[in-house]
Amino acid sequence: MASALFILNGPNLNRLGTREPDVYGHTTLGDIERMCRETAEDIGFDIEFRQTNFEGMLVDWIQEAGDVAQGLIINPAAYTHTSVAIRDAITTADIPTVEVHLSNIHARDAFRHHSYVSPVAYGVICGFGATGYRLAIEALSEVIRA
Ligand code: DQA
Repeated sequence: MASALFILNGPNLNRLGTREPDVYGHTTLGDIERMCRETAEDIGFDIEFRQTNFEGMLVDWIQEAGDVAQGLIINPAAYTHTSVAIRDAITTADIPTVEVHLSNIHARDAFRHHSYVSPVAYGVICGFGATGYRLAIEALSEVIRA
């Protein structure tokens, strides 16, 4: 069976394509999912790609990832800057985790500069738009196979 990666997306990312296109572009979450599936298939990984607007749902899914997946890619969206619960779930899941942001959070509002997730992530990719998800899959696959 191929190794599995969970790719989890937080609040408002279901609105990509029409949400603040000057910041996030016109790529939809469906486009990102398709790109992730192609990338993962090419390198022999199965993916579970999900989005929710609910913090507790993300916590449940991170716990599930810890039980069944080899790695986690997460764009926690606004919860990045607020959620101790998501950070604790990632710590507990104990699988290599990449934090992804479409935008460069350090070049935006000051409240976006702090991430609760970064200190417990294996790595962080931000500012490359949808490409960041592809880079995260490639990087995580190397970490898992090493
Ligand atoms: C985001 C950045 C966050 O600050 C913001 O709240 C989001 C999206 C990004 O992908 O750039 O919803 O995570």
